[in-house]
Amino acid sequence: MLFDFDAMPHGNRYKLLVSCVVPRPIAWVVSRDAAGVLNAAPYSFFNVFGEDPAVVAISCGPRPEGSAKDTLANIQATGEFTVCLVPHALAEQMVVTAADFPPGVDELAEAGLATIPSTKIATPRIADSPVAMECTLWKIIPVGVHSMVMGEVKAMHVADEAVMNPERAYIDTPVLDLVGRMHGRGWYSTTRDRVEFPRITPAEWAARKKATE
Ligand SMILES: Cc1cc2nc3c(=O)[nH]c(=O)nc-3n(C[C@H](O)[C@H](O)[C@H](O)COP(=O)(O)O)c2cc1C
Repeated sequence: MLFDFDAMPHGNRYKLLVSCVVPRPIAWVVSRDAAGVLNAAPYSFFNVFGEDPAVVAISCGPRPEGSAKDTLANIQATGEFTVCLVPHALAEQMVVTAADFPPGVDELAEAGLATIPSTKIATPRIADSPVAMECTLWKIIPVGVHSMVMGEVKAMHVADEAVMNPERAYIDTPVLDLVGRMHGRGWYSTTRDRVEFPRITPAEWAARKKATE
């Protein structure tokens, strides 16, 4: 079925996009307001866009009544944030931090999550998250009513048990046991079911075709 985005209410575009572009990684963003009150919220309009500089981006939509979400306001105020990744064991707490608490409420305290100081920024990271990236604000790009917040990763923490070779930066990714966002308001995927499709060279592809002739 064809969906014409020019002839469609934006709410339906949203439903189509988030139902089909799955699974999406989840940035569990920790930020601070000007008074130092901590904030945490998940963002699945999220990915990494380069390694030199190492840039990640999230997209913050408005609150239903149009105001900016705390994450965006805090990053604008302080110029920094921490992106933690969500393991299966903390998924329930991640959902708590997505509740629409008013500004000034520390979602980390609400969800019973401990934090650890960061090394290069003043915003801490979630202690039990197996991956945390300390980010400084790179740029904010308005995208309609959304704001694409790009951050430069200044330091990255990975749980010791997932690091196979620090010199070569080899990570045992399945050990992280991360979840991704699926469809609807409550569905997620685990990373426990994997399949490998090794990449091939043009020569290997030619040999494979020849073998089936
Ligand atoms: C898994 C998940 C992913 C989400 N992704 C986004 C997103 O990419 N952009 C967004 O604006 N809101 C997203 N939300 C909603 C925010 O987390 C929610 O509005 C939260 O209350 C914002 O908190 P804040 O005001 O403290 O930033 C997501 C919610 C969940 C549960």
